[in-house]
Amino acid sequence: MTANKSLLILPGDGIGPEVMRQVRRVIDWMAKRRSVSFDVTEGLVGGAAYEAHGTPLKDETMADALSADAVLLGAVGGPKWDQLPYDKRPERGLLRLRKEMDLFANLRPAVVYPGLVDASALKPELVRDLDILIVRELTGGVYFGEPRGITTLPDGQRRGVNTQVYTTNEIIRVAKVAFELARKRQSRLHSVEKANVMESGVLWREEVQKLHDSDYTDVQLEHMYADNCAMQLVRQPKQFDVIVTDNLFGDILSDCAAMLTGSLGMLPSASFGAPDASGRRKAMYEPVHGSAPDIAGRDVANPLATILSFAMMLRYSFDMDEDADLIEKAVKTVLASGIRTGDIMGPNTARVSCSTMGETLVREL
Ligand code: NAI
Ligand code: MG
Repeated sequence: MTANKSLLILPGDGIGPEVMRQVRRVIDWMAKRRSVSFDVTEGLVGGAAYEAHGTPLKDETMADALSADAVLLGAVGGPKWDQLPYDKRPERGLLRLRKEMDLFANLRPAVVYPGLVDASALKPELVRDLDILIVRELTGGVYFGEPRGITTLPDGQRRGVNTQVYTTNEIIRVAKVAFELARKRQSRLHSVEKANVMESGVLWREEVQKLHDSDYTDVQLEHMYADNCAMQLVRQPKQFDVIVTDNLFGDILSDCAAMLTGSLGMLPSASFGAPDASGRRKAMYEPVHGSAPDIAGRDVANPLATILSFAMMLRYSFDMDEDADLIEKAVKTVLASGIRTGDIMGPNTARVSCSTMGETLVREL
């Protein structure tokens, strides 16, 4: 056994610990059947960390995250902590992780699983076997650009300002991630901006094109305006393989793509930072959903979003494509057999608990 893969697990709040227990089953299976062991550290984040230490993320946990090969997070937050001051709130823990790990590329796959085509907002024939990957720039753009703020003008009107800013480096580093991912998939990339009305979009388009021409001519690149992309996502989503876009458009388009798949309980995500000297990127993996306080503690949550996030971790942080494929295939088989948690019930399906879903998946593996 090799024990050099260090993994920090942060279950967090609400359903976080419940779904993470199912990931632990998969990790145990890997140790037993695939002879792969992880050097796992578990830590507290969010409300759980606040209860124990009075802060949503301890410095020690932050240091563990920076030194680990990968971080797997459940979810943070809940009504219990809604009244806390800003810097004590659970989501501050998550934001600190993202900021200090400098996670600038956010990956959101939109995959439609067999048997779940009916959950989509679109007609089955449009989404059957859909498999899109959206890469959203996460640390720049209009959410962070200066100047920003609300001022009062001499005539008494108020004026709100946000500024869309991108530098060449910010564009190139996220585009690189997207080109590399496209290479591992169908080698097709759509780069999305609004170069027709925004200078930052012109720069985006030029830099992505230059990078393509110098390093990635094997990837088929197309540029698309963001409004057209929104339209194409609901009109003919299967035309896409990988999409790369800025923070604002990525926020909107990834939520739109998520609804093509139907269920929050099925959506994984990954976020990458810059590569270190050995080429390994800092990375955090987490389900798209939150802590779901309405169902927490009842063993009914869908653990698949977190298990699929773990599979992404195997693929992207550890180059363990074969194991990732096995897990994703097992998810498909289990769903096709009609075993479902409450959130993805359909006709002729059997409702199981969170832990039974985890058990069934490991049995399938
Ligand atoms: P949510 O994603 O927690 O829940 C939305 C709805 O989807 C709920 O009805 C919930 O029961 C259901 N749901 C979510 N995940 C599910 C799963 N795995 N299986 C079955 N059903 C599932 O979003 P909401 O309700 O807006 O926020 C709840 C709390 O979570 C808040 O405190 C919020 O701040 C926090 N949150 C945290 C996030 C994170 O940690 N990344 C992201 C989004 C929200
Ligand atoms: Mg959003």
